[in-house]
Amino acid sequence: MCAKPLKKEPRQVETTGHAWDGIEEYNNPLPRWWVWVFYATIVWGIGYTIAYPAWPLVTQATPGLLGASTRADVAAEIAAVDAANADIKARLVAADLNAIGADPELAAFAERAGAAVFRTNCAQCHGSGAAGVVGKGYPNLLDDDWLWGGTMEDIHLTITHGIRNTTDPDARYSEMPKFGVDGILDATQISQVVEHVLAISGQEHDAALAADGATVFAENCAACHMEDGSGDRAQGAPRLNDQIWLYGGTREAITQTVTYSRFGVMPNWNTRLSEDEIRAAAFYVHGRGGGE
Ligand code: HEC
Ligand code: HEC
Repeated sequence: MCAKPLKKEPRQVETTGHAWDGIEEYNNPLPRWWVWVFYATIVWGIGYTIAYPAWPLVTQATPGLLGASTRADVAAEIAAVDAANADIKARLVAADLNAIGADPELAAFAERAGAAVFRTNCAQCHGSGAAGVVGKGYPNLLDDDWLWGGTMEDIHLTITHGIRNTTDPDARYSEMPKFGVDGILDATQISQVVEHVLAISGQEHDAALAADGATVFAENCAACHMEDGSGDRAQGAPRLNDQIWLYGGTREAITQTVTYSRFGVMPNWNTRLSEDEIRAAAFYVHGRGGGE
């Protein structure tokens, strides 16, 4: 037996002809297994695009032979959740509005469902809840200062029909006159009544103007805002003798309100939400702290 030569002879393989610093590149064929796996992925890819939605067309993609649809999957999941909740939703719709809180299971469901409805449909105008930070004209629903009333019935009615919208004939409606623009009061009377509003809301004011303003107020404002400025929920007229303002309580803001009036609009939800969702939202708002 002769010993194997320690040093291997370079194999006689074709090279690509590329050489760097004397190192040549072999032109080895790809391993067979690799090539077959590569072909298999192509076949798999073609098969997949036939079986499943794949190629984008003008308005949608090719549907795929298996009829797979993530949209349908989601719809089925939603239907399953709806079916599971059907009983409790029916109970919520049938319940007396003021009895919901007394039924722990119903209350827990309404609270959760109401929170979800609120986040999706109400938070953009009314703020996300806890902080109660809202924009001008959008009432904070967490306090106990109500324009139209804070009982379950009041809140339910407000959500169902909305306020001053043109889409629901049963919407809550009232309109403060444009005292300045329509010439009902002159500039002097407006500055007087503004000082009166500053006075009853406990702010710094001109006492002489405010004294005359009290008369202007009694003649022009008390029908809606009441003699003492405590407001009237039947007309959605805000309380003026406190520190909570929908449109601002500065001299400028009040002058603006009296001159041009305000016209806050809230959509009606009876065409967008189901009765159980409206009730859940009402329960949620009522339970935030300011409910009556
Ligand atoms: C497009 C904005 C907008 C959306 C969305 C909206 N609201 Fe309102 N909402 C308002 C405005 C504006 C007012 C005040 C109207 C006024 O000046 O009387 C209001 C008033 C209310 C009031 C009466 C408050 C009071 O003091 O009497 C309640 C209750 C209420 N909204 C609940 C909801 C709920 C619940 C939702 C979601 C289902 C919702 N709102 C969605 C704008 C909105
Ligand atoms: C026909 C009823 C009516 C009369 C009369 C009326 N108001 Fe109003 N007032 C309202 C309503 C309703 C609102 C709420 C408007 C809204 O939410 O868009 C309001 C809002 C206000 C606000 C805004 C309150 C806030 O929180 O920002 C002020 C200030 C005000 N009125 C002052 C007056 C003064 C002063 C007069 C008399 C010169 C007067 N109002 C007469 C119905 C009336």
